[in-house]
Amino acid sequence: MEALALDKPYLSRSLEETERLAADFFGMINPDGLAALYGPLGGGKTAFVRGLAKAAGVDADDVTSPTFTLINEYHGGRTPIYHFDLYRLKSPAEFYGLGADDYLNREGIILIEWADKAADRIPADRYDIRFEIIDDNSRQLIFSRVNT
Ligand SMILES: Nc1ncnc2c1ncn2[C@@H]1O[C@H](COP(=O)(O)OP(=O)(O)OP(=O)(O)O)[C@@H](O)[C@H]1O
Ligand SMILES: [Mg+2]
Repeated sequence: MEALALDKPYLSRSLEETERLAADFFGMINPDGLAALYGPLGGGKTAFVRGLAKAAGVDADDVTSPTFTLINEYHGGRTPIYHFDLYRLKSPAEFYGLGADDYLNREGIILIEWADKAADRIPADRYDIRFEIIDDNSRQLIFSRVNT
C-alpha cells in the first residue's frame, strides 16, 4: 500500500486501478473518518467504495449503489463502512432525515457519493475526493483534506 499525495491528480486507467487507489486511501483514513465523493455519473465513485470495502475485508458483492434507503451499511470487515448515495436527495435538509447524525457519531468510515447534494450539511472535518472521466477506461481522482 502506498501513501497518497493530497491535491495531486491521479490517473486511473482501469477499474482495478481505482480499487487500488481506494485500498491506499483505506490505509490513510481514520476508522471513524469521512470522505465526500464528487463527480459525474459513471465517474467511479461506487467502484471506489467497493475497492475500499474490499480492502477493509468486506464482501465486495454487498457493495452496490444504495437506492431506496440512500444508505448501505457494510459490516464484517475491519471497520464498519457506511455508504451514502445522495443522488436522489430532494433537499439538503433531507440529509438529517436519513438519520445521518446517528451515523456520524458511530465508529466506522463514512463515504458519501453526490455529497454536493447536501453541500454545507456535510461535516467539515473530512476528505474530498473528486472524480473526472477522462475517457472510457480512465478516470482522474484528486484527494484533498478539508479543515485540518
Ligand atoms: N478507471 C476506471 N475507474 C473506475 N471505473 C471505471 C474506470 N474505467 C471504466 N470504468 C467504468 O466506469 C463505471 C463506473 O461506475 P460507478 O458506478 O463506479 O460510477 P459512479 O461514479 O458511482 O456513478 P453514479 O453517480 O451513477 O453512482 C463502471 O462501469 C466501470 O467499469
Ligand atoms: Mg455510484
